[in-house]
Amino acid sequence: MPQPLDFQYPERVRLAQTPTPLQKMERLSDRFGVDIYFKRDDYTGTELSGNKIRKLEFLLHRALQMGVDTVITCGGAQSNHCRATAFAAKRLGLKTVLLLRTPDPEKPPATEANILLDYLADATIIWITPEQYQQRYQYFAWQAEQLVAAGACPYIIPEGGSNALGAWGYVATVEELVNDVNLLGGSGAESTTVISAVGSGGTTAGLVLGNKLLSADFRIVGVNVCNDQDYFQKVIGDIVDDFQKNYLSQPVVSSADIEILDGYVGRGYALSQPQELEAIRDLARLEGVVLDPVYTGKAYYAMISELEKNPECFGSRIVFLHTGGLFGLFSITEQMAELL
Ligand SMILES: Cc1ncc(COP(=O)(O)O)c(C=O)c1O
Repeated sequence: MPQPLDFQYPERVRLAQTPTPLQKMERLSDRFGVDIYFKRDDYTGTELSGNKIRKLEFLLHRALQMGVDTVITCGGAQSNHCRATAFAAKRLGLKTVLLLRTPDPEKPPATEANILLDYLADATIIWITPEQYQQRYQYFAWQAEQLVAAGACPYIIPEGGSNALGAWGYVATVEELVNDVNLLGGSGAESTTVISAVGSGGTTAGLVLGNKLLSADFRIVGVNVCNDQDYFQKVIGDIVDDFQKNYLSQPVVSSADIEILDGYVGRGYALSQPQELEAIRDLARLEGVVLDPVYTGKAYYAMISELEKNPECFGSRIVFLHTGGLFGLFSITEQMAELL
């Protein structure tokens, strides 16, 4: 049996409720004749719910080590990452500045769902246009300068917490998944496909790296919810390369290990099609599990669409990674209510 490679985790601050449970979706499994499990990373916390807190454990440890008093990060208007950062920062006594993307900063979106929570956690929100967001690293630098001039000490966390340090959060998750699958008995990781949503790439990068470092042999499939396959091959490849340069003595992952299931962006980032929302509704009624419209709903819709075409396409066992994001549902209540 292949042994895990030699590696050492950087230090982290414990914020997430982990390990998260692995739950079998009985009726969904019957429907497709495949064993389908959900890894409940939506259970990592209430305010902190979802995948981001796993990355933030490592990133915020670094911030604390550096003695900062403020974290700056960025995302879409309803960013789950920004909400989780704002609350995690509060747990550690830090302030948060968020650069949030919106078409017209003069008319910011309603204070609802994740935005409401950002304000509740006393985050300072700076609204920027999609064009300005393209230059977000300049905005980060500019914002950091302003904070320093005002006597603060800021730490910049990239979009989605997706960099080499943050990716450790999902290396650790592979360790949980290996234990989860061992407890199931029967066939192991080699016959298990792990499916998750891809937004900024850090989760998939961590899963792919963890898979190799732990010699786990899962098939890791990422469903992009924006951009396309080529874009994410590059983005995830860059995070992986940085990780390997910074933390490993030799590379373990190549670009062939990064599998992106493209074709399910639909109307675009954070825009839903009726069939995606119907899939969310139907799963809630079938299994009592709620997905979000921006990430997990799209990834789930992709998974069942592929299974409908070919029930064997992911092998005999699937682990769908529920990465959270539920608050996002409360920003599309009218659209969803029409389907109820
Ligand atoms: C709920 C949820 N799921 C999945 C993702 C995708 O994770 P990543 O950004 O690491 O690709 C995100 C963020 O982008 C998210 O908020």
